[in-house]
Formats: sequence, structure tokens, C-alpha cells
Amino acid sequence: MLKKILSYVKEYKKYALLSPVFVVVEVIMDIIIPYLMSLIIDMGIETKSQTAILKIGGLLIISVLIALGTGILSGYFATKASAGFAKNLRLGIYKKIQSFAFKDIEEFSTGSLMTRMSTDVQNVQMSFQMSTRLAIRSPLMIAFSLFMALRINRGLAFNFLIIFPIIGLGIAFIFFNAYPIFKKLFKIIDKMNTIISENLSGIRVVKNFNKMDHESEKFDETAYDLYLKSKRVSKLMALQNPLMQFCIYIVSLIIAWLGTKYILVGSLKTGQLLSMLTYSFQIQISLMLLSFVLIQIIISANSVTRIYEVLDHETSMSENKDGIKDVKNGEIIFDNVNFSYIDDENKCAIKNINLKIKSGDKLGIIGATGSGKSSLVSLIPRLYDVSSGSVKVGGFDVKDYNLKALRDSVSMVLQKNQLFSGTVKENLKWGDENASDQEIIHAAKIAQAHDFIMEAEDGYDRPVQRGGSNFSGGQRQRLCIARSLLKDPKILILDDSTSALDTQTEANIIKELNKTRPDMTRIIISQRIKSIKDSDYILVMDKGEIIDIGSHEDLIKTSPIYREISETQSEGGDFDEPKKD
Ligand SMILES: Nc1ncnc2c1ncn2[C@@H]1O[C@H](COP(=O)(O)OP(=O)(O)OP(=O)(O)O)[C@@H](O)[C@H]1O
Ligand SMILES: [Mg+2]
Repeated sequence: MLKKILSYVKEYKKYALLSPVFVVVEVIMDIIIPYLMSLIIDMGIETKSQTAILKIGGLLIISVLIALGTGILSGYFATKASAGFAKNLRLGIYKKIQSFAFKDIEEFSTGSLMTRMSTDVQNVQMSFQMSTRLAIRSPLMIAFSLFMALRINRGLAFNFLIIFPIIGLGIAFIFFNAYPIFKKLFKIIDKMNTIISENLSGIRVVKNFNKMDHESEKFDETAYDLYLKSKRVSKLMALQNPLMQFCIYIVSLIIAWLGTKYILVGSLKTGQLLSMLTYSFQIQISLMLLSFVLIQIIISANSVTRIYEVLDHETSMSENKDGIKDVKNGEIIFDNVNFSYIDDENKCAIKNINLKIKSGDKLGIIGATGSGKSSLVSLIPRLYDVSSGSVKVGGFDVKDYNLKALRDSVSMVLQKNQLFSGTVKENLKWGDENASDQEIIHAAKIAQAHDFIMEAEDGYDRPVQRGGSNFSGGQRQRLCIARSLLKDPKILILDDSTSALDTQTEANIIKELNKTRPDMTRIIISQRIKSIKDSDYILVMDKGEIIDIGSHEDLIKTSPIYREISETQSEGGDFDEPKKD
């Protein structure tokens, strides 16, 4: 697991290796400095030898400068390596998420994926930075300092050892108690991010339904939960400081007390006592830093697992990269298709579908909400995979195609369409990045979008805000249709994509499509009979099944449901006719 995550260090490996090299030099200098200081006192000051003072003093200055330089360099390389590592890791997760099927994203939830890409990567980055520097510096420092202290005075140095079990036990206590809390903490952060992202993207609905208080309460609950868990974790972490202070005082007392005794009997010099004290501080500071590293590792151990879960997730849609790259025509065959979102054959959104749509056919789909219209068509560009049976496009199973090739040929305007920040032109170019201005204008004209685009001062360069929020619902729908047309698909699926348009605009789009793309298979899902009545044939769906099929005239005669929908819609006039935008 760790190996896989560390493989993302990639080109920053050299910096990750350089940092410890400089750390080693820095530690050696930090060890030599107290030794040189003791020499200055014992050989220079006590014997009043000026040459010794100058010589050792010079060495001391050089050592300090080297320690400083290598310290800065190792810090610099550690930061560079860890920041680069985090960048690669984020990119890796992002790419993995792009390869996910809808189902995988729903499984993780967007909030959780966001936390994994932000907080979790940040934790791992921090641990990595500490590992390339502190995790190497501290043990080295402890080992060298202990070695020097033992050389100076064995009896005194042995007293240092009592702090190791105390600190060891203390850290183990913190570790075992904090780890499970951190695990829960991240789950709460996931939940909070989900609430935030859902809420901000749906802020208009929240305000419209005056649900601000309700939503705030929901948020408050999660925030309070987070507060409780953070408080518990902080309490545990706070134990670390007094523990360290306690050890520092104990050891200083022992050294001062025993040290003066040794000096009095002449087995220790003043300078040596001073360096003993310095080494003891170095050991304790290193222990303290090491415990910081350990705690950071506790925090990020959870993050590593969570990142690994994403990177290791087998996408539920196996992609056939070497699959067929050319979709011959727009023929679609559903052969005994059943489909369930939750892999439960008793809860199928689509049941027993057998259907052949000839290339170039105009097909309408109507049915109550939740009857499975969107689910049915989403199987054609393989947004989801069937649970049983097969869907064939252009004569081959959709699973035999290269996914990109299939989706380029099957263009679907989703019911929940989305524009992205950029300009109108940039958004349209999602359909074909090499499209010329003429092609873009042509597609926009078919989609009845050209006129309103040109009404704006900057025309096709008009900025689009995030999610297309500066366009009306109907304008967004038309831009999405134009974007899909630019793919020049063999099959075009409009999933309730004209619902916000007035009847005339909708009729114009359909007329233009029939005129300019007669060979393209066109599937129109709508709740309005008017939108589909000119189709070659119409499917009437109910509870995941096709219950009736035929032309408008046939269905009026043979399908009670269709007749009922038709009568209700003509009685009330166009009761669901939306306002022109
Ligand atoms: N992503 C999903 N996960 C789980 N269940 C889903 C999902 N999307 C739809 N469903 C369920 O599948 C069934 C069919 O939904 P579908 O979206 O296909 O209906 P629809 O006919 O397109 O409805 P509408 O006219 O409201 O768009 C519904 O019961 C719905 O709850
Ligand atoms: Mg739908």
C-alpha cells in the first residue's frame, strides 16, 4: 500500500534522497559543536591558552556555518520533494476518479473524494516531509549524542536512559488511543464536505424552499460531532508536551546533581558537564520531534489507507482500450436487458427490454417520472453496464468498443446538464476541440442558440460562470444540445433536454435536426406528447418496462396510458408549457 503511494514521488525522488544526505552532515556538525565548546572551556579558558581558543573557536565557527547551511538545504529539499509528491499524488487520484464509472463515484460520494484529494493528501505530504528530514535527523541525533555522552562520562550518561521507557510508554498510549478517533474524524469530515458541496451547488433550491434553518441544523450537528472528536484528539495530543517537559526537568536535575558531585571529586571537567547538558537537551528535543513525527504518522496512516482505497479501486466498468474504434452506424439493439443500480435483481430500474432501433430512426420515449427512461438510454453510451442481457450499437456489444469511441458516437444530453466555467465557445468545443468557428455557429444554429449568443456583446466569447449559472435553464439546454451536436454523433439522445423551451423553439430544433442530420438516430425523451408525436415510433414506459410501442396515431388507439397522457395535455392546453426564457 505504502509502496504504491510512494511511487508517486517520481521525478522528485532525487530531492527526497538529497534531504537525508544533508541531514546526516547537519547532525554530525550538531554533535561536534558541543564537543568543541567543551574543548574551548577545558583546554582554552581553563588553561588560558589563546592559540587553543583561536584554533578551536575557528573550527567552531566553521562547524556552525556548515550546520546552518546543510540545515537550510535539507529543509529546502524536503519541502520541494514533499510538495512535488503531493502534486503527483493529487493528479494520480484525479486521473483515477476520471476513469471511474458513475457507479464508483456514487459509491465513494463526492464529499469523500474531495476530502481524500485535499486533507488526506495534505496529511501524507506532511508526513513525507517529516520523514525525509526529522524522522532521520532525530534518531541519528539521539544515537550520536548518546555515544558522545557515554564517551565523556559513562556513569552520568547511563542516567539518560531512564527517559526512554517513560517517553515510549507515553507515545504508545497516545498512539493507540488517537488512531481510532482519527479514523472516525475523517468520516465526519467526509460527511461535512458532502453537505457543503451539496448545499452550495443547490443553494438556489435551499433558499427557494426556505430550508436555510433546516440545512444549518444539519450542518450544525455534523460540525458539533467534529468538535467533540477533535476535542478528544486534542486532549490526547496535549499530553505530549507535559510528558516531554517532565522528562527534561528530571534529566537536567540528575545531570546537575550528579555532575557537580563528579566535578568535586575531579572525574569531570566544567566544559564536559556543559556539553553533557547540551547532549541531554539534544536527545530530549530529538525525542520530542520524533514523537511529533510519530503523531503525524498516526494521522496520516488513516489518510494513506483512504487514498489507497481510491487508487486501488477497480473501476466497475472494465474498459476495452483496444476495443472497436469505429461505430459503423446508429443501430441500437437491446437484447433481454435488465439493469439494477444496486446489483439487486429484485430491484431493477430496467426490466426485460427487447428492442431494435434502426439507424436513422426517430424515437420518442414517454412515461411517468421514475419509470426508467433515463436509465434505459444511459445504457447506450455505457454510462452504466447492464446487469444481464446486452446492448448493441452499430452491430456490436457496447462492451466491445473503445469507450471513448463509443461515447464520441453516442452523444447524450443529460437531464441534469452542466456547463463549465470558461466561455461559450470553450464550452461548445467540448464536443469537438478542433471545431472551426463555422462548425460551432452551424451547431448553435441547429440548437437555436445562435441568436441569443449573438445578443450578448461578446457573443461566443461571453463568459460562462461555474455550472452555467449566468444562463437561463432554456439557454443552458440549447448550449448543451449544440455541444453534443459538435461531436457529429451517429446517435443523439436528448433526455428531457428541451423541457425548458417553448414549443416553437423546440419544434425548430427538431425540424433543423431532421433537415441537417437525417441519418443520425435521434432519441427524444419528453414528458410532453407534442415533443415526440412526430417520431417514427414512441416507447411508453412504466416501472422499468416498455408497456407500449408504436406511432402516435397507433398509440392513441391502442395504449390507454398514452391516450390518457395525451388527453390530459390537450385538455388543459399545454399545462406544462414553460415560460419563454
Ligand atoms: N443513480 C441512481 N442510483 C440508484 N437508483 C437510481 C439512480 N438513478 C435512478 N434511480 C432509480 O431508478 C428508477 C428509474 O429512474 P430514471 O431516472 O430512469 O427515471 P426517469 O423515467 O428518467 O424519471 P424522470 O422522468 O423523473 O427523469 C427510479 O426508481 C430511481 O429512483
Ligand atoms: Mg429521467
